[in-house]
Amino acid sequence: MGLSRRNLLIAGGLTIGLSACSVTGDGTADDGSGKVEVFSWWAGPGEKEGLEALVADFRQRNPGIEFDNAAVAGGAGTIARTVLATRLENNDPPDSYQVHAGLELDSDIEAGYVEDIRYLYDQQHWRDRLPKGLVEALTFDGKIYSVPVNIHRANLLWHNPALLKARGLTPPTSWAQFLTQAATLKAAGILPLSIGPAWTQKHLLECVLLGELGADGYTGLWNGTTDWKAAATQEALALFVRVLDQSDIATAAGDWQPALDKVVAGTAAYNVMGDWADAYLRTKGLVFQEGYSVAASPGSDKVYDFLSDSFTLPKGAPRRRAAEQWLIECGSVSGQDAFNPQKGSVPARLDADKAKYTGYLALAIAEWTDSATRVVGSLTHGVVAGTVRSAAVDAALALFVQDRDTMKFAAAAGG
Ligand code: GAL
Repeated sequence: MGLSRRNLLIAGGLTIGLSACSVTGDGTADDGSGKVEVFSWWAGPGEKEGLEALVADFRQRNPGIEFDNAAVAGGAGTIARTVLATRLENNDPPDSYQVHAGLELDSDIEAGYVEDIRYLYDQQHWRDRLPKGLVEALTFDGKIYSVPVNIHRANLLWHNPALLKARGLTPPTSWAQFLTQAATLKAAGILPLSIGPAWTQKHLLECVLLGELGADGYTGLWNGTTDWKAAATQEALALFVRVLDQSDIATAAGDWQPALDKVVAGTAAYNVMGDWADAYLRTKGLVFQEGYSVAASPGSDKVYDFLSDSFTLPKGAPRRRAAEQWLIECGSVSGQDAFNPQKGSVPARLDADKAKYTGYLALAIAEWTDSATRVVGSLTHGVVAGTVRSAAVDAALALFVQDRDTMKFAAAAGG
């Protein structure tokens, strides 16, 4: 059953203790080497620190296994995914690779690239330790192919509190309000919104659609219950173009980190980005609510547009037993509590140590586990669209930002 046909409902609040134990896998032979090659895109500032913390915990618990870091730099894995696709096609898989929870994995499952790892879920009791809706997002025809290490939130508006205070502004709660503020900011020589490469534009689109159409309307775009050609969707798309007009899309170069740098420097007022921004900004020595602050992206308060990084067991992984130990690490309390405070994400597990999450992350964990919070899945980061549909959106968006034809975009992206 496809995730797109379901409503995501994440149940919070379940607290069960778990002590780590090791498994030896299903008996499939491996090459016995004490090494594990792990493929991810966590190579840039703010991301590599999280991976390093996870690896440090892994090393401590698996002193005999050397960690071979096959990370390929580039936000949202746009470059890494191309490299990985070639490796998988050439039957040269790493021992484990990063993928998002949700429909992103469907083509790899169809191609037979990944193994069903329910046996690890059974051995490690993961189903009882993870939110129900997350397990659903990881389940394809009753099988599970990856282990989640975190929960990120996509719908966030980052800003520089001193800049807003000096101008008497507070973060806009609707995109219309953002446009009003943008006019004032522009007149003062401040860029209203910084942006980066194509995937950050898609990320912004997702946040504008969510803010304008609401949680149900946004989710309906992906499960077929919202009409892309209806007036409300068309208006939201037209608004996205107007929002984009307030950005530096014409001149922006570099990945998501330089776009955030402009907010920190006070040359831009706002940036829409997931909460990996929190990790990055902390690596610059900035303090939450002093050097930077955050609000839900306009119109999406109390909604958690979630994504989850997870790791797979590829078919033909050269070092299967070591890969299993890596997956166990990713799914463990100690792994998640080492990784997430550095990564700017909250743990996927419900029984993690909340005291380890401070600053922005204390707010994030409170919202994530609040039963009143509405959960929707990210488009840009793999939850609500498979790779084929997501690529169709990418191609259509590249044209849309040029020709601004909302009907044409709806026809191409509507699926
Ligand atoms: C997302 C990923 C995050 C973060 C971000 C920016 O796709 O899930 O963990 O790495 O890209 O690179």
